Amino acid sequence: MTNDRRPDDMTRITTPEQAQAFIDQQITALRAQIGGKKVLLALSGGVDSSVVAALLIKAVGRQLVCVHVNHGLLRKGEPEQVIQVFRDQMNANLIYVDAVDRFLDKLAGVTDPEQKRKIIGGEFIEVFAEEARKLDGIEFLAQGTIWPDILESEKGIKAHHNAGGLPDDMKFELVEPVKILFKDEVRVVGKALGLPDSMVYRQPFPGPGLGVRCPGAITRDRLEAVRESDAILREEFAKNGLEGKVWQYFTVVPDFKSTGIKDSKRAFEWCVIIRAINTTDAMAATVENIPFPLMQHLVERITHEVPGVNRVLYDFTPKPTGTIEYE
Ligand code: XMP
Repeated sequence: MTNDRRPDDMTRITTPEQAQAFIDQQITALRAQIGGKKVLLALSGGVDSSVVAALLIKAVGRQLVCVHVNHGLLRKGEPEQVIQVFRDQMNANLIYVDAVDRFLDKLAGVTDPEQKRKIIGGEFIEVFAEEARKLDGIEFLAQGTIWPDILESEKGIKAHHNAGGLPDDMKFELVEPVKILFKDEVRVVGKALGLPDSMVYRQPFPGPGLGVRCPGAITRDRLEAVRESDAILREEFAKNGLEGKVWQYFTVVPDFKSTGIKDSKRAFEWCVIIRAINTTDAMAATVENIPFPLMQHLVERITHEVPGVNRVLYDFTPKPTGTIEYE
């Protein structure tokens, strides 16, 4: 395939015209590589896999088979958005797998963060491989590998570049149409491909999803409290001009309860922790100065709208000493 490595003199893609030139060039290369065969893609709805999907849909249409695995740890509205954008608007060949019970049953009672990550990653590959085995004639596997992934795997930091850890008997040729791009370029290309801003400019979201924001053993009710409080935080940040300004923001619901009062009765319930940080490279981070009236409004909404929550706390800890996520 052409463009295996990023040419040293490649100009950074910053304009719609440059993005369009890249898209045209990739469509030609993808058609040459794939011909009339079928391609499989795990479509999470994150920026990289969404841009890869949109590029492949333009190049080979329904020869691309997208598999969206809902593992129950996605943010509110994400699975619905994947279906709406790709199946409804782009007419993608999309398989939606509801694996929520399967993941949450496996995770029940598991408290160790690394063990939780392993279960989520391992189960994801199993579900994806099961779907792949049901399909006939797939010869290619598309991946949203980007240039920093390749640089990091070359330096031995990440074992990224490995066909997603699929079982050895599943051999596919890789299709990696954004692998010479930096993240900001992927966003410019995504915008030019017509993907919604909420997908293109989304804040970073860890692979294990809300699972790392539900510290300790994940329970369905606490996970729901994370999802609902996160949705309120995102809605209020968008309304108040903080979306796109603050690098990453989310909520965490730790596994402890405290005494409170609701409807004049004692309420022994969870607390929601708000985290809102700024950084350039995620190696160090500072805490966003959220205006106090907005903070009060967030407390009001979260304690009234999220079942099982009677307190809201703000995490003032920079990185270091705190990491961005809690697990
Ligand atoms: P930490 O918590 O290490 O996070 O300060 C730094 C950045 O990485 C994201 N993060 C992850 N991303 N899988 C991912 O894909 C993970 O397991 C993971 N853990 C942390 C985190 O959201 C932050 O942007």
